[in-house]
Amino acid sequence: MKVLNFGSLNIDLVFSVEHFVREGETLASEKMEKFCGGKGLNQSIALAKAGAEVYHAGCVGDDGGILLEMLETSGVDTSLIRKLPGPGGMAMIQVDKQGSNCILLYGGSNQSVSSEQIAKTLKQFAAGDLLLLQNEINGLKEIVDTAFDRGMVIALNPSPVGKQLQEIDLSKISWLILNEIEGQELTGECKSEKILEKLHQKYPGCRVVLTLGKKGSVYFDGTELLHQGIYSVPVVDTTAAGDTFTGFFLASVMRGETPSKALEIASKASSIAVSRKGAAPSIPSMEEVGVFDLKPVG
Ligand code: RIB
Repeated sequence: MKVLNFGSLNIDLVFSVEHFVREGETLASEKMEKFCGGKGLNQSIALAKAGAEVYHAGCVGDDGGILLEMLETSGVDTSLIRKLPGPGGMAMIQVDKQGSNCILLYGGSNQSVSSEQIAKTLKQFAAGDLLLLQNEINGLKEIVDTAFDRGMVIALNPSPVGKQLQEIDLSKISWLILNEIEGQELTGECKSEKILEKLHQKYPGCRVVLTLGKKGSVYFDGTELLHQGIYSVPVVDTTAAGDTFTGFFLASVMRGETPSKALEIASKASSIAVSRKGAAPSIPSMEEVGVFDLKPVG
């Protein structure tokens, strides 16, 4: 089974700050670093490092060479990425002393996905192949509808939550991997059990993985309810922790691991990612995840 990740590619400018800049404030940062990122790119790298056969589709701009290189050295096929003139996707990320982040996005070429590109790309995939999406590119509705008609299995990480998601028929989604905030936005519920219950009522065919930050993560498919604790590590930078989780979880279930084992592998991988700086560069290899032997907390 092949995986197509139709998603964003960004250059991340990461500013290390004492605290997040406040309204009206001018703040000097301690350091500024440049990393490869974008929820799409990060998730493709995580999938590939976890052993999946991954094809990334999307658009890069003039500055996209470094992004293609990073994907290729991580084992991701980049032949379906269009190179467009003009600025590419960019994220301005503040990381504070606790390793928390806030992210300001500029879509750039990520917002130039065309109908022709969607049709041409999806033609290369067959029934049973997995399509993974996030919400940092345009054209999601068309991608979902076309992929569904082709019999592809669709996984959605509805991040960041935005208007475009309302256009998608979520009953066409088989896997929903989201955090508590996204779950609240999609259901109007605050408690994790309620979020899962409501998502299951609305989309009974969808398996849901809800990440809960320090409280770990839960899986619910309507019958089986599983909980996974987190691993306690020194937090350096939480950027791409969710992306790492998504990639490792999906790659694990695709190679036949049980949802419970997949949760464990994904949690270990994202714990390693938060103990490192940057988005894509923080994603561990499968070997590193294999030798990570802390016990989960919670
Ligand atoms: O999830 C982290 C990612 O969000 C960053 O790499 C940034 O580019 C934004 O897309």
